[in-house]
Amino acid sequence: MRTQVIDHPLVAHKLTVLRNRDTDSPTFRSLADELVTLLAYEATRDVRVEPCEIVTPVSPTTGVRLASPRPLVVPILRAGLGMLDGMMRLLPTAEVGFLGMVRNEETLEAATYAERLPDDLSGRQCYVLDPMLATGGTLAAAIRFLVDRGADHITAVCLLAAPEGCARLEGELADLGVPVTIVTAAMDERLNEKGYIVPGLGDAGDRLYGVAGG
Ligand code: URA
Repeated sequence: MRTQVIDHPLVAHKLTVLRNRDTDSPTFRSLADELVTLLAYEATRDVRVEPCEIVTPVSPTTGVRLASPRPLVVPILRAGLGMLDGMMRLLPTAEVGFLGMVRNEETLEAATYAERLPDDLSGRQCYVLDPMLATGGTLAAAIRFLVDRGADHITAVCLLAAPEGCARLEGELADLGVPVTIVTAAMDERLNEKGYIVPGLGDAGDRLYGVAGG
């Protein structure tokens, strides 16, 4: 597994405003969107392309276009939805699949509660959107789910990551046999006793959409 922390002043600036507890939801949503587009630029560095012939106003030339099958963008519900537009801005012809994961409080395992994805992901590059790589349980389960369907290249785009989550992903996905890259704006210090990233930005879903269900 490869972890890429994007070192760029604009990324750091936008992330600082996102972290600030005084930033309101509309500003948070719009900055998260901009930040994801910056991350998407790096996250798509390995997107598959194929040669194509075109004619410019001056002469014929060879360029590239996105290869088939098209990449699949998979936001993890609910907070991953806040990253979708920012990602699609750079990959407008990608397909989108949805994955809802919840932690079973008895087994502590992540379980799928909703999915809208092609049955066969053979040969597909998948871009998973999950703002907070905290314990890593949800992301590990989501990645395994996609690989079980045939995906052969996974990039996870996260606003923030914690070292504990990255270590867990490394361990749980060691046998996967498919390249996995994590692209994030920052690697924070640690998780606190409630599983929140420190210093983090709080609950990403709540900050994007307000508190649902009290
Ligand atoms: N999920 C969040 O939304 N925030 C955290 O800090 C950890 C997990």
